[in-house]
Amino acid sequence: MQAGPWVHGFMTSSVSCRLWWRSPGWPHYSPLEVSFIERNTTDDAPELFGRKAIDRIVSALPPLERAYAMIRFSIMRSKLLSVMDLVLPSEGRILDVGCGFGLFAAYFGLTAPGREVLGVDPDSRRTAIAEDVASKLGLTKHKYLAGIAQDSRIKGPFAGAYVLDVMHHVERESQLDLLIRLRDLLADDGVLVIKDVTTKPWVGLKFTEALDRLVVGFKEPLAYRHHNEWAEILRELGFKVRVVRVPDILPYPHVVIVARKERSISSASA
Ligand SMILES: C[S@@+](CC[C@H](N)C(=O)[O-])C[C@H]1O[C@@H](n2cnc3c(N)ncnc32)[C@H](O)[C@@H]1O
Repeated sequence: MQAGPWVHGFMTSSVSCRLWWRSPGWPHYSPLEVSFIERNTTDDAPELFGRKAIDRIVSALPPLERAYAMIRFSIMRSKLLSVMDLVLPSEGRILDVGCGFGLFAAYFGLTAPGREVLGVDPDSRRTAIAEDVASKLGLTKHKYLAGIAQDSRIKGPFAGAYVLDVMHHVERESQLDLLIRLRDLLADDGVLVIKDVTTKPWVGLKFTEALDRLVVGFKEPLAYRHHNEWAEILRELGFKVRVVRVPDILPYPHVVIVARKERSISSASA
């Protein structure tokens, strides 16, 4: 009496859904698996791009850095990464300031292969590893440079730039100069994305500070600012600014600041 295939079972997880079905007259059940991620929908919009890209990046790293990368990706959850991925230009030159091992340059390169990321970091061991990761992942347009953003070898214009958990590692007195430099490197309408931690709530700040101190010790500067202070500085530099707080299960007070450079603004008007 069966008029068509019947679904006899249903199992779901965060990544896939499996159905067992049986066609009329066919004695066996067949599984049909539908993956929720990594596969495009009919509108060509991936529901969430993430786990596979992260796995590929982690596997491209040397063993010790793999552990670090897994921690970084557990802090920079897909919610945070997707927010930044969507606001960054999907093609053109993009500057990654304080790129570290190039984890996020690789991630943003895998999500949008038209991006040509230039990563800079004063730690040459990190940029060498970043270069190796990009080459293993076939990200041939990515380049890395050991240095800081003020390095004269860096030439604009960039369609976008991002600074992920780096601003608070820069001395307070140098933060403004860095932002001016980034504004001048951006094309008109270029977008600057800053991911940092804000100073409230106090417990969240102290939690972050304790973990940062574990990594950098007590000699390095840690200069956090409230997100409204960052927004004010960026507006004074001529950016249009939006800020979002991104809640986490851990007490990190994450903020993402998106600053769009308005046309015809240069250091002359700083
Ligand atoms: C917390 S790590 C973040 C690395 C990477 N952005 C990420 O999210 O994994 C901070 C990085 O900032 C770099 N850094 C420190 N001072 C810097 C500066 N003045 N300019 C650029 N990068 C800097 C460090 O070498 C380090 O790789």
